[in-house]
Amino acid sequence: MITKDISKAKEILLKDELIAMPTETVYGLAGNAYSDIAIKKIFDLKNRPLYNPLIVHIKAASSIFDIASEIPENALMLADKFWPGPLTLVLKKQNHISDLITAEKNTVAVRVPNHRLTLALLDQLDFPLTAPSANPFGSISPTSAEHVFNYFGQKIDVILDGGECEKGLESTIIGFENNKPILHRHGSIAMEDIEKISGKLSISTHSDTSPISPGMLSRHYAPQTDTYLTNDVSKLTNLLKGKKIGLLLFKNKVQSDEIVSQEILSKSGNYTEAAKNLYAAMHRLDQKKLDVIIAERLPDENLGKTINDKLERATKKH
Ligand code: TXA
Ligand code: MG
Repeated sequence: MITKDISKAKEILLKDELIAMPTETVYGLAGNAYSDIAIKKIFDLKNRPLYNPLIVHIKAASSIFDIASEIPENALMLADKFWPGPLTLVLKKQNHISDLITAEKNTVAVRVPNHRLTLALLDQLDFPLTAPSANPFGSISPTSAEHVFNYFGQKIDVILDGGECEKGLESTIIGFENNKPILHRHGSIAMEDIEKISGKLSISTHSDTSPISPGMLSRHYAPQTDTYLTNDVSKLTNLLKGKKIGLLLFKNKVQSDEIVSQEILSKSGNYTEAAKNLYAAMHRLDQKKLDVIIAERLPDENLGKTINDKLERATKKH
C-alpha cells in the first residue's frame, strides 16, 4: 500500500518486514538495522550482492555514537554542517553493527536523512533503519513513491509517500583514512561544498570486483534502453538517424524532426534543478520504448560533476 501513515510503517518494521521510505535524496528500501532477518530481506528483494554494504539511517547526529566509534573531528564537523542532509559518513563501526550491513568491513556508512515523514518515523522507533535505494540492483534510483511501486508493486507492504524527492540524487559519501577525508561517491552535495569544511578530498580508487563503495561500480543507475553520453548531441543524433531517439539534455532543446522525446533538466542551467530532475527524466525516457537515449554531458563543475558521474555509469557498456 502507498500511504502517508507512519504508524502503518512502524507496524511492518516491528515485524522485521520492509518498507519504502522517502528521503530528500532518493527513496530507500528500509528495515530494522538491528534485525538480520530484515537486513537479509533487503538484499533478497533488491537482488543486491552481499559484498555491497548498506547505509544506516539515524534520527539525529547525536545517535552517531551508537553506530560508530573513533570518529575523526573532521567527520563531526561535517555532520554538524550537513545533517540532517545528503551526506553519508563512512566510519569505524561499533561492534554490535551487523556484518551484513557492512559486508564484513570494519567500517559502517551512516547518515541523518532530511525528510519530515522519515524523521518522524525514526523518532518513534527504538532502532535505526538500514536502507539502500529502493530499486533493483543496478537500475535507476526512485525519486517518487510511484517509481518504487513500478519496481516492486505489492512486494513492499508499505510505501511511505513523501512526495517527490527534494534533491533527486543520492547522498555524497565521505570516508577517512588516517583522518584524511576521501570521496567514496559523488552525490547531492558538491565536492566543493564538502571541501569548505573538510579540506581537500582525495577520490577513492576502486575496482569492480572489490568495490570500496559500489556506488562506484562502473555500470549502475542504468536505464533498460541503450543509452549514450556525449558532448555533441546533434552529431550523435545524425549518426543514429532512423532510430527512435530520446534526448536527455541539460538546458537547450534540439531542433530536429527525428527526435521522439526530449527531456530538459533545467531550462535556466541550474545544477540543483537538473539534479532533482535527472532520475525522473531517465525513468520517463526509459518507458517510451525508444531504440536509444542520447544524454548530454554537463559542464564538469559543481553538481554537474555528480550528474556526469551518474550518466557515465548509466551508459557504460557491458
Ligand atoms: O542518498 C542515499 O544515500 C540513499 C538514501 C536511501 O539514503 N541511499 C543509497 O543507498 O544510495 P545505496 O545502497 O544505493 O548506496 C549505498 C552506498 C553504496 O555505494 C555502498 O557501497 C556505500 O554506500 N557504502 C555502504 N557502506 C560502506 C562502507 N562501509 N564503506 C564504503 N562504502 C559504503
Ligand atoms: Mg543505490
